[in-house]
Amino acid sequence: MARFCLPRDVYHGKGSLAELKNFKGKRAMICVGGGSMKKFGFLQKAEDYLKEAGFEVQIFEGIESDPSVETVMKGAEAMAEFKPDWIVAIGGGSPIDAAKAMWIKYEYPDCTFEDMCKVFGIPELRRKAHFCAVSSTSGTATEVTAFSIITNYANGVKYPIADFEITPDVAIVDPELAETMPKKLVAHTGMDAMTHAVEAYVSTANCDFTDPLAIHAIEMIQENLVKSYNDDMTARDAMHNAQCLAGMAFSNALLGIVHSMAHKTGAAFADYGAHIIHGAANAMYLPKVIAFNAKDETAKKRYGVIADYMHLGGSNDDEKVDLLIKYLRKMNDDMNIPHCIKNYGKDSFPTEQGFVPEEVFLERLPKIAELAIGDACTGSNPRQPSQEEMEKLLKCCYYDTEVDF
Ligand SMILES: NC(=O)c1ccc[n+]([C@@H]2O[C@H](COP(=O)([O-])OP(=O)(O)OC[C@H]3O[C@@H](n4cnc5c(N)ncnc54)[C@H](O)[C@@H]3O)[C@@H](O)[C@H]2O)c1
Ligand SMILES: [Zn+2]
Repeated sequence: MARFCLPRDVYHGKGSLAELKNFKGKRAMICVGGGSMKKFGFLQKAEDYLKEAGFEVQIFEGIESDPSVETVMKGAEAMAEFKPDWIVAIGGGSPIDAAKAMWIKYEYPDCTFEDMCKVFGIPELRRKAHFCAVSSTSGTATEVTAFSIITNYANGVKYPIADFEITPDVAIVDPELAETMPKKLVAHTGMDAMTHAVEAYVSTANCDFTDPLAIHAIEMIQENLVKSYNDDMTARDAMHNAQCLAGMAFSNALLGIVHSMAHKTGAAFADYGAHIIHGAANAMYLPKVIAFNAKDETAKKRYGVIADYMHLGGSNDDEKVDLLIKYLRKMNDDMNIPHCIKNYGKDSFPTEQGFVPEEVFLERLPKIAELAIGDACTGSNPRQPSQEEMEKLLKCCYYDTEVDF
């Protein structure tokens, strides 16, 4: 038996933010990030729509990128005071993820962060509030997923919270919100979406319900991402849907070790100024992981199917896998994303000498590899890496060397 779970409603298309006017309830808490939603007027709009629907509205703002455990606890306290019956999270993956974790703590004040991290161990929510997510970036698809990623800065580790309980009740996928994204955000979030779709398609938990979503997302991302990066707004709008489809796929098919590695390297070098942005990490690691996973026959065939849908050519699966890797690397080049941690420099642009010194990387490597193996995303990867293989793979991601094991 398997479960396929999505939000009850997905409102999509330009202007769908206005659907907030039709919500029913008494008190809505809007959770929002550092300022982009305010600056571009979407926060005001959301507040106005909810007030029009008769809500008393309170705003919890300032949720940082890669939200911390502390922020989650603070937000939950604010919820405990205000007692919302709707939580409306608006912004990128960060504020929406933080709001999901706040929601758990609000419903269960005794639940610790460690309790939340038990995979598929969240007790029944919606006793106090329902949850609506309005996404403003085109990547994480957290508006439709059962995941929330919270960073524990005490140890520099990102923890995924995973449970269908935190799949939002309502998702609003309004492309107008994504039109204000700067280029770099388009690139990173877009490659995050591509990684979601590819990992979902080869995941051991894939099924008939997730495959079409993953494949269609891949086709749409291939068609639109680089155009969107180059400011084609029709493509930008299409990417907002594409990332959401990828999210529907991976929320149910789960992910793989690209994400395990991104989660465990993301904040691991923060003391060197290197916050390896989630989407950039995925973009760098995906081609390496494809080469590693393709040693598994089933995964290789599935990568071959992806290459076919992308019309990449190739007369056998080995050639198709190579062409897929080349294509993804070309997308990185087209969007100014480095190929490896060694060249991951200021503002996440490729540089000769990146943030992370070689000796620091090598010293931390065994621990990072161990944590990556233990990440919740590793279980559904088509090939289970040993400690030694994970270390080798991470080295390939550091030096941009070929994966031949
Ligand atoms: N829950 C999931 O299923 C899931 C999946 C993948 C990643 N994640 C997590 O999501 C987080 C990343 O989220 P993200 O990539 O959406 O970025 P983000 O939410 O961290 O936002 C990045 C920056 O972009 C700005 N921004 C957001 N929308 C904008 C817009 N429309 N115009 C201009 N600026 C805008 C924000 O203010 C912020 O400064 C990471 O913590 C990652 O681990 C979660
Ligand atoms: Zn992701």
